[in-house]
Amino acid sequence: MSHCSLFGRALGLAILLASAASTGSAFAAGASETPSGAQGPHALAIDIPARQVWSFAGPFGKYDPAQLQRGLKVYREVCSNCHSLKMVAFRDLMSPDGPNLTEAEARAIAEAYKIKDGPNDAGEMFERPGRLSDYFPWAFPNEQTARAAFGAVPPDMSLLAKARTYERGFPLFLLDPFIQYQERGVDYIYALLTGYTNDKDPNWDEYFPGHKIAMPNPLSDGAVDYADGAPKTVQQYAKDISAFLMWAAEPKLVERKRIGFRVLVYLAVFAALLYLVKRKIWARLHNGASEAHRAQPPA
Ligand code: HEC
Repeated sequence: MSHCSLFGRALGLAILLASAASTGSAFAAGASETPSGAQGPHALAIDIPARQVWSFAGPFGKYDPAQLQRGLKVYREVCSNCHSLKMVAFRDLMSPDGPNLTEAEARAIAEAYKIKDGPNDAGEMFERPGRLSDYFPWAFPNEQTARAAFGAVPPDMSLLAKARTYERGFPLFLLDPFIQYQERGVDYIYALLTGYTNDKDPNWDEYFPGHKIAMPNPLSDGAVDYADGAPKTVQQYAKDISAFLMWAAEPKLVERKRIGFRVLVYLAVFAALLYLVKRKIWARLHNGASEAHRAQPPA
């Protein structure tokens, strides 16, 4: 029976770790890197982004459509002035696991953009309103124009939340696989957007490597109007746009987690069945062996 209890203990530990990760409670609190206020953008000289609470964290995480819709608004009204989002199509905004817009809403957003198309019969390129099948266009005609304006090219945002990370250091990086910490990219983006803590220098950021960033502080309180009553603060904007960028980078996250859980249930049932089968098969052999043993004549 020792196998059984070992298995049980391992399963118990896994569930414990998983629930700690999904609620972001026990371990998140224990692992908070900035002791003075996890939400605070500036605390210590060590600029390690604090871990935030996200609806999509943990084994049962899901995107919050209202948050993604607010993030989309921040992207459209602020970030899209400089950053492209090349891999997101307007029809993707209708995803029920994502922003969950109606077709009419997604179409209205698409039509607000001008898309370069052509050539037409006269051989000329032309502009037309966007369609659901179009992708978000970039405000700049090419990288050179953007670099000339800012001294650096604003990176495409489609995969940014997955492309950025930071060193968590020992011993956290050993723990991360177990607590399923996969939100390093969004935590970094949130920290970056709330890290403009030098009033005299709009290009100084607490969390940007080297601190000097070519992007001037893009957010300010009240800059984007929210219709759903969410606070119009830099913190809230940063949270919402970070969540939106996570969705852009991993639109299948919810599906992946759903399938992952089913696979784990399947494996657990399968392992239990295999164990029972193993006992049944070996029981016969075991009895036979002990009978043979007993059958030996006493010395
Ligand atoms: C005025 C133009 C401009 C706006 C508006 C802007 N950015 Fe940027 N952004 C830049 C530039 C330029 C860079 C490149 C910075 C560098 O490499 O120094 C950048 C870089 C970034 C990076 C990458 C930082 C890194 O680690 O390399 C992130 C993340 C980012 N921006 C997020 C945002 C978000 C979110 C918004 C909207 C709230 C936004 N930006 C709005 C110009 C802009």
